[in-house]
Amino acid sequence: MTKTRNAYDQIELAGLDEIRNLQATRLKETLHHVYKNSPAYRKKFDEQNVHPDDFRTLEDLSKFPFTTKSDLRDNYPFGMFCTPMNQISRIHASSGTTGKPTVVGYTQTDIDNWASLVARSIYAAGGRPGDKVHVAYGYGLFTGGLGAHYGAERLGCTVIPMSGGQTEKQVRLIQDFDPDIMMVTPSYMLNIGDEMARQGVDPAQLSLRIGIFGAEPWTNSMRSDIESRLHIDAVDIYGLSEIMGPGVAQECVETKDGPTLWEDHFYPEIVDPQTGEVLPDGERGELVITTLTKQGLPMIRYRTRDLTRLLPGSARSMRRIEKITGRSDDMLIIRGVNVFPTQIEEQVLSVEGLAPHYLMEIEKKGNMDSVSVIVERAQGYTADAVALAAELQVKIKSLVGISASVVVKKTGELPRSEGKAVHVIDRRG
Ligand code: DLL
Repeated sequence: MTKTRNAYDQIELAGLDEIRNLQATRLKETLHHVYKNSPAYRKKFDEQNVHPDDFRTLEDLSKFPFTTKSDLRDNYPFGMFCTPMNQISRIHASSGTTGKPTVVGYTQTDIDNWASLVARSIYAAGGRPGDKVHVAYGYGLFTGGLGAHYGAERLGCTVIPMSGGQTEKQVRLIQDFDPDIMMVTPSYMLNIGDEMARQGVDPAQLSLRIGIFGAEPWTNSMRSDIESRLHIDAVDIYGLSEIMGPGVAQECVETKDGPTLWEDHFYPEIVDPQTGEVLPDGERGELVITTLTKQGLPMIRYRTRDLTRLLPGSARSMRRIEKITGRSDDMLIIRGVNVFPTQIEEQVLSVEGLAPHYLMEIEKKGNMDSVSVIVERAQGYTADAVALAAELQVKIKSLVGISASVVVKKTGELPRSEGKAVHVIDRRG
């Protein structure tokens, strides 16, 4: 069944009372569903002495226990699923950097809701039925490729399921097939942009109108860089496999002011990462999400580790999250200073003559942390490498607060991403 759409979902523009009522109803159902059908959830609720009947208003959610990645790992692979296995129609998994992957399962209804939410997201990004969508997120266990694919089909678009890799071919197909929209990680889009330059392809002559970028943090400076280089609107799509995949939140093209979180399917909270205390809207902390409609693997108060804050609705009634520029486990502590890699990205992008690629290498020299930032000269620039390095070093010192040595390499010398970029090599052990 493919139903196309050419309008907002009514709920996107509903009043806040209607949205809150719907959330309370769906939350109650979800709490009962997991308590009844998952021994793992029941045990967690019992240990905390809470029962789904204790949930009356949205504020009561804070009585319920958090769910973390370790809950999923401890119940690997399918132990947290809340429906019998014969109702699970798809599995995805996120690789993570260490240990067992996190495995997630979807019923047909979950897949259907996911497709609708990605369709809604593409629509919010400015996509319309009839557009051609080139998907360069990886297909497979990663949720990016298939998530984008089903959503684009649901919106009534023509999908080009290219997946990641084969960068030369990506450029050729963009030239030959004339897509309107690219769905890809921002770092891989940069790589594709470099390949266009290498082949002498002028992005201004291409059909691309919109880039829907996510799966990794990227800054507003990166947005401006990509928009001007590729002549497109660049908007942010957020999601994580534990909650669904891409399409948990989507930035609207008319405002570009942080992703709108689709609150009819997900209930957000911001908590203090240390104490777990719920913080008021507007305050920065860790995003915690409860799914409201998931059947196969509902998540109750899932600790995303993504750091952001909740902002009031703008283009839609639902709340937005501030563009996520880091997760608690990406935070580096360098000689006592907290640093997120995106802070370095911002400085790299502010130096004229540097390409938007960077790698941080950290090691211990004696008792001291030593940081090298490796960057590249931008294509077509001839500025002196020593002068560029000095400029970046001063900016990092004064604006990020750490002393780093900077190495400027030739164009194309840093490794390129074909999916999620690696920006940090930490050898401190
Ligand atoms: O990355 C799902 C996805 C695919 C989102 C395609 C958007 C586009 P995971 O592999 O489970 O799922 O990784 C989820 O990636 O907790 C964030 O830390 C990070 N992340 C995802 N989207 C964004 C974004 C997919 N727009 C983890 N900005 C999340 C910043 C993001 N970080």
